[in-house]
Amino acid sequence: MCGIFGYIGQKPAVDQLLLGLKVLEYRGYDSAGIAVLNDKGSINILKREGKIINLLNAFKSLEKNKIYASQCGIGHTRWATHGGVSSNNAHPHISYGGNFAIVHNGIIDNYREIRNMLTNEQHIEFVSQTDSEEIAHLLELEFSKRYSDIIRSESTQRERQKAVLDCINVVADILKGSFAIGVICALTPNCIYAYKNLSPLAVGRNSSGEMYMSSDLPTLCNFCETAYALSDGETAIICKRVAFFDKGIEIQKKPIRLNKEKNTERTSDCKHYMEKEILEIPDAILRTKDKLSLNYMRDTLPWLTKKPETIYFLGCGTAFHACIFASYYTEKICKVYCKAILASEFICQDVKLNDSTVCVFITQSGETADTLQAIRKAKQFGVRTIAITNVALSSICSISDSVVPTMAGVELGVASTKAYNAQLCAVVLLAVYFDICDCIDFRHSNYAEIQSTITDIANRINALNSGKSKIEEIAKTLRRSDRIFFIGRGFDYVTAREGALKLKEISYLYCDGLCGGELKHGTLALISKDVYVVAVATQTDSMKKMYNAVAEVRARGAKCICVSCFEKLNEVSDVFIPIEHVEETMSPIYSIVPLQQLAYLTAVSFSLDPDKPRNLAKSVTVE
Ligand code: F6R
Repeated sequence: MCGIFGYIGQKPAVDQLLLGLKVLEYRGYDSAGIAVLNDKGSINILKREGKIINLLNAFKSLEKNKIYASQCGIGHTRWATHGGVSSNNAHPHISYGGNFAIVHNGIIDNYREIRNMLTNEQHIEFVSQTDSEEIAHLLELEFSKRYSDIIRSESTQRERQKAVLDCINVVADILKGSFAIGVICALTPNCIYAYKNLSPLAVGRNSSGEMYMSSDLPTLCNFCETAYALSDGETAIICKRVAFFDKGIEIQKKPIRLNKEKNTERTSDCKHYMEKEILEIPDAILRTKDKLSLNYMRDTLPWLTKKPETIYFLGCGTAFHACIFASYYTEKICKVYCKAILASEFICQDVKLNDSTVCVFITQSGETADTLQAIRKAKQFGVRTIAITNVALSSICSISDSVVPTMAGVELGVASTKAYNAQLCAVVLLAVYFDICDCIDFRHSNYAEIQSTITDIANRINALNSGKSKIEEIAKTLRRSDRIFFIGRGFDYVTAREGALKLKEISYLYCDGLCGGELKHGTLALISKDVYVVAVATQTDSMKKMYNAVAEVRARGAKCICVSCFEKLNEVSDVFIPIEHVEETMSPIYSIVPLQQLAYLTAVSFSLDPDKPRNLAKSVTVE
């Protein structure tokens, strides 16, 4: 989704902004732009539809010295929400007087009212259909109303900066919704302003004294060693140094040490990040298991001294599937009431929350708007909250009471793979910890045993990664018009849903994941020789029922692919993918891998880019 990047230093800002936007690419976008400010206070803007390369080519064809001398600027990758994909709608947006350029992430809920007011009362003409352009015009309007004397007089840079800061606060009070904003002002050369409300924004500094701004902390890791994350309502003036303000009053902020993430390059033998990330699953699981030692759990959850009576698991998409697994597994282990709730639905429901409830939020990015809204709601009820996230220092970390990190490493493919397996692993260990949290002596717990089962599963996934030729064959036989139903029971239901989501999001095939037992209550009407059914069967208790379900759909002509550790299923399959028998309650960590491979190989066989599926973003920062 949208990304903000800013730079001030000794280098040409254009180069740095293009580099920054390139790193932000993984989040998904449809257009991009930059605005640079030179020493004389002139703003130059360049925007293009499509990839960063279009922006780069446009820049190359410009008279270089016009904007190349600037050492200060802001950039943006846009993900269309209000107004179609066009260079007019791309950010930065410039104000009617030409003094302010802005980039914006988030959604302005009252943009229509503001737009009407600016058009009807101030006769300002808009050039875009976005909910962002009015921010630039409002800044110009407020500045001209309050500080026209500053524009005329011989005021100092500091006085002008204070005036701009004041206007940003005034405008922020007018805006409703979520917004992270980067601003440059022609009246204050070599200076960037930042404001944050409900959408992430951070400022970074490196040892050469260069200053950066980004909505994405992992992106800053590529440029800086130190960062400061803005809190809601805070502003920053970024020049050679950075100063932070809360409602105009200067405040001190704690620096965050950044470590450049290793291993973010595709290796030469992997064509896509998704392929690389599937190969990294065993490491992701092992690192997560090692990190979440008993001591770590005790330190991160000091307040958890008795087993909760109710545990809710909340997340979206793939993370929601980890929540379903979490509810099944934790209920089994802890014998307490557990429920998985879609974060976006939690906001609409009256879920019973009390002192003995714990809410666990699962999110790879830690920035998903629906999940952040849900945790804010839970906190209003005074409920204890835990975040399971893959991105240290993401927004959810500063909101939740405790963080249980997954150690999957940076995940750049839009379709989540290794982070999901790591989430399941974290969920298992958290469930065991919930069960034993009131023990005085942990020595007799089965925590170490569970950890060694996870190690065993990781080793078996390595074997799966080296034998995928059968899956490649299936992928090659699928046609773009195929419809595919994934079925499973109990823990396999989770895998069926995740397998369907993975395949649909990157191959654009119609896929659905169902409980095996639900077929006969409706979906059977759609079963014919034109459809595929992928059955996942790893549970002894439901093996016979799955056998019957597969036989039933096959009798209606569907082509059946079985992923199972039970050879018996081969009798009713068109294609049988044998997998090993692992600890049944943890099998989703393992049995999803062939389906992740199937999704990847199908996208490749359709000549689609699995890393950047259409209409999807890595980090969904709007509700
Ligand atoms: C699917 C996928 C999405 C995300 C969802 C939540 O492959 O990646 O469904 O799982 O958007 O994202 P996070 O986990 O970052 O909250």
